[in-house]
Amino acid sequence: MLSGIQPTGSLHIGNYLGALKNWADILNDYYGFFCIVDYHAITVEYDVSQMQKRIMDAAVEYLACGLDPNKCSIFVQSDVRAHTELAWIFNSIIPVAELERMTQYKDKSRKNVENINAALLTYPSLMAADILLYHPDIVPVGEDQEQHVELTRMIVRKFNNRYGEYFKEPDTYHGKVLRILGLDGQNKMSKSLNNHIALSLTAEETEKLIMQKAMTDTNRKLKTDPGNPDICNVYSYHKIFSSEDEQKEVCEGCKNASIGCVQCKRMLAKNINNELAPIRENINKYSNDKDYVYDVLKEGAKNASEVAEKTLYEVRNLMGL
Ligand code: ADP
Ligand code: TRP
Repeated sequence: MLSGIQPTGSLHIGNYLGALKNWADILNDYYGFFCIVDYHAITVEYDVSQMQKRIMDAAVEYLACGLDPNKCSIFVQSDVRAHTELAWIFNSIIPVAELERMTQYKDKSRKNVENINAALLTYPSLMAADILLYHPDIVPVGEDQEQHVELTRMIVRKFNNRYGEYFKEPDTYHGKVLRILGLDGQNKMSKSLNNHIALSLTAEETEKLIMQKAMTDTNRKLKTDPGNPDICNVYSYHKIFSSEDEQKEVCEGCKNASIGCVQCKRMLAKNINNELAPIRENINKYSNDKDYVYDVLKEGAKNASEVAEKTLYEVRNLMGL
């Protein structure tokens, strides 16, 4: 399998449930290539002085979420030159109109009107290169990346048609959680929308954040008002983090007004903190052993480069280059 996450800040529970947890879960069945996609992260404004720290944080968090370097290669995209080279080749295959209809491009260009650069548009060519260099069977990502993987499959078909059968079409792989909503209850949880619960927060910070920012059923003004769990964002998190008994308890308690939002949020915070406790412990452990993390990235880049260079060599041959 191959997957990637941008080093754009501390990872959050959406990244964990939609991506990282699934990667770790299936490492016994698939060898993994996991890429920290720094070249993707420069398509929007970023703080140059923070980039190295963000890459290191991402690597620490990958390891903390259970990616075992004996079963995968963890590496930084810009350490493996073949990615940008194959992306250029794919730019010669993919119609601009296909790139323009990508939801992520439309969203990001709406938010970055000052800087709609060419790399923001051709972002999916680079993502297709990330994927196809390693010939993966599956690409484990959250629902929002489905469109990009579909475009990758189109590139495979176009390439194979023009230059001969070579790449295989990868499938997306989704775990149980496809899309987790942000604390605002309106949009998907995302670093860029600042509606997220970061993995690196302390238990106290997590509880405070949930208390202050997690939206509930806005029609429920008083504790004595009955609420509607089906439109409550906090209940949607309970469905992921709480036992079936607790889900039933808060659902009934909300409907008959015997449990208030504060109590309901406190239960949720406790369950999220329980799930994240071992990850947070690992984040501390690896943050204090940066030399080990650098070694993992160096070894990962070496393994990845070997596979990627071979693919690029074969591609160039097929193309008469
Ligand atoms: P962000 O939107 O926070 O910048 P990324 O775009 O870097 O996150 O996403 C990295 C991975 O995490 C992708 O596989 C993506 O599908 C998954 N992911 C991100 N946000 C969510 C979410 N809210 N729910 C489920 N999966 C998510
Ligand atoms: N585009 C992905 C995102 O925004 C990140 C990414 C880049 C990726 N290259 C990839 C994901 C290759 C999976 C496979 O989340």
